[in-house]
Amino acid sequence: MRLQGKTVLVTAAGQGIGRASVLAMAAEGAKVLATDVSSNLLEFYAGVANVHTAVLDVLDKAAILAIVKTMPRIDTLFNCAGVVHNGSILQATDDDWNFAFNLNVRSQYWMIQAVLPTMLAAGGGSIINMASVCGSVKGLPNRFIYGASKAAVVGLTKAVAADFVGKGIRCNAIAPGTVDTPSLGERINSYADPVQARKDFVARQPMGRLAQAGEIAPIVVYLASDESVFACGQVFSIDGGITI
Ligand SMILES: NC(=O)c1ccc[n+]([C@@H]2O[C@H](COP(=O)([O-])OP(=O)(O)OC[C@H]3O[C@@H](n4cnc5c(N)ncnc54)[C@H](O)[C@@H]3O)[C@@H](O)[C@H]2O)c1
Repeated sequence: MRLQGKTVLVTAAGQGIGRASVLAMAAEGAKVLATDVSSNLLEFYAGVANVHTAVLDVLDKAAILAIVKTMPRIDTLFNCAGVVHNGSILQATDDDWNFAFNLNVRSQYWMIQAVLPTMLAAGGGSIINMASVCGSVKGLPNRFIYGASKAAVVGLTKAVAADFVGKGIRCNAIAPGTVDTPSLGERINSYADPVQARKDFVARQPMGRLAQAGEIAPIVVYLASDESVFACGQVFSIDGGITI
């Protein structure tokens, strides 16, 4: 049990990588508070050992502060919430830019600011921020807003790491390649030719396939565990070779 005795807070835990990570961390003995904006999606966890749930919209600062107040101990925060907008800078709108930066970046700033006092009082903690290979490691076509926001996650991660590395806080980011999650399925289905769209997503993956969410979860477990005790301020790519 690599996470026995640890308390973990996860955002956007209702499906996809967030859900797979909650299940993997709970299986390793962590007590997990799985949060999501959707109460329906959280019903999945009924009866799952070591997992409690709470509705949390990470765009709501007051709600973040209220949830964190209920947790006397937080060893790990996994900031998973995020949204993808398609298009180049020529298709970008201010509304999409603001929404993506609020959900992908500002929510992490708010979550970290809220949990840090609890972590510092306990002598340390691990913060895991969801970036993406897109933007933070590699430029990809038609992901202008998404890439810019996920690159900002890396800057935020390194800034927090630099300020608190001497106080037992480790702050790292993970950068997945394309993962076959419900939101990816929705985006594929929104293309005029979904079959071709899926083929195109697969074609940019050198392994010739997309990742499953359960293949990203082990890096989250590692960063939540004491095995990663010397890792701080880094971006962990797990991308099927897309950035080779
Ligand atoms: N799927 C991929 O290919 C991929 C690749 C790299 C990075 N990521 C990142 O991983 C994260 C999760 O993506 P996914 O594809 O696994 O999941 P997903 O997009 O399928 O699910 C997103 C979850 O976020 C929740 N959510 C949406 N708005 C929220 C809000 N305001 N507050 C709280 N929860 C909210 C949804 O209810 C849902 O449960 C995102 O940050 C995404 O950018 C995904």
